[in-house]
Amino acid sequence: MSKTINVGIIGSGSYLPEKILTNEDLEKMVDTSDEWISKRTGIKQRRILDDGVPGYTMGIEASKRALKMANINAEDIGMIIVSTNSPDYIVPSTACLVQRGIGAVNAAAFDLNAACSGFIYAISVGQNFIKSGQYKHVLVVSVEALSKVTDWKDRNTCVLFGDGAGAVVLSEVEDEYGIKGTHLGADGTMCESVTLPFTYTTEEDRANRISNSYNTIWQNGSQVFKFAVKVMETAVLKIAEDTSTPMDEVSYIIPHQANARIIEGAAKRLGIDSDRVINIIEETGNVSSACIPVAIDRSYNEGKFKKGDNIILVGFGGGLTWGSALIKWGI
Ligand code: ACO
Repeated sequence: MSKTINVGIIGSGSYLPEKILTNEDLEKMVDTSDEWISKRTGIKQRRILDDGVPGYTMGIEASKRALKMANINAEDIGMIIVSTNSPDYIVPSTACLVQRGIGAVNAAAFDLNAACSGFIYAISVGQNFIKSGQYKHVLVVSVEALSKVTDWKDRNTCVLFGDGAGAVVLSEVEDEYGIKGTHLGADGTMCESVTLPFTYTTEEDRANRISNSYNTIWQNGSQVFKFAVKVMETAVLKIAEDTSTPMDEVSYIIPHQANARIIEGAAKRLGIDSDRVINIIEETGNVSSACIPVAIDRSYNEGKFKKGDNIILVGFGGGLTWGSALIKWGI
């Protein structure tokens, strides 16, 4: 019988642009207030990429940092999976641009879009390529330049999003550590709840947008909110059950950072103390699929995780999609 390969994170990296857009800055752009944004979302500021700078450069920076921590050469990477729903190009993929940027000459590369759940989908795919024996090291990168697909006239959405990237290197790890399970889901019947058109728009898409730019994100906020609180709870419980991990043995939950009220609501339903739930939204805003890897990298660098910690990742997003993963931290 062939040996089971355990796959885990051996390095992480993140990158946020330097430019900060505060709630006070937004007060000058749309009819909003710091009080409304802070109270309704928990966001105080977000990072915005400079005009003319492509989003994929953030992915290159995050990847270099992850490779450094993993102590792996770029040439040793067998596959690069980029999760994004705000790519600079449809072709070439952001993954190919990152591959060129870091010199990962031996890597296959492709993009994956599961909206804000993209990182969890991507580690699940990457893990299976390593488990199958096809690749030794997979680089998963989440890159989001949402400022470029934001309708800056729409106060319902423009206060929510930010730019950034996070990356992890997946490799074989010691037996008891690594990704213990992943759970992925989608409900296409709710596809109209979050939209970002590319080459096609419906009358509804056009009616929903304030500016004439249709390549912008629109969402039915309250519909997504209700869905999110519920699915965060069920996806966390599902992965805990699938991996036979009692909730009181879970050290941290790293949720998608869409709204502090969603995070707090889900934590309350799960009966989990807020200090066990990672919340960085105040500083970053919603960076879509990059939220979770950025939060992983920050938490690790702040010394939060210790070897053997059970960490649950949970995300949801457009599609609608959702996903959860349980990692026994092994670094
Ligand atoms: N400033 C001031 N007032 C505002 C603002 C703003 N920035 N935005 C909306 N309002 C107003 C609305 O116009 C509305 O006014 P009205 O009652 O006069 O019509 C009022 O505030 C309440 O609006 P709601 O939409 O009901 O506010 P809610 O409490 O639901 O908060 C929010 C909106 C923050 C969008 C919330 O619904 C949310 O976080 N939803 C989930 C979003 C999410 O998780 N998306 C993930 C997918 S994104 C992706 O996949 C890339």
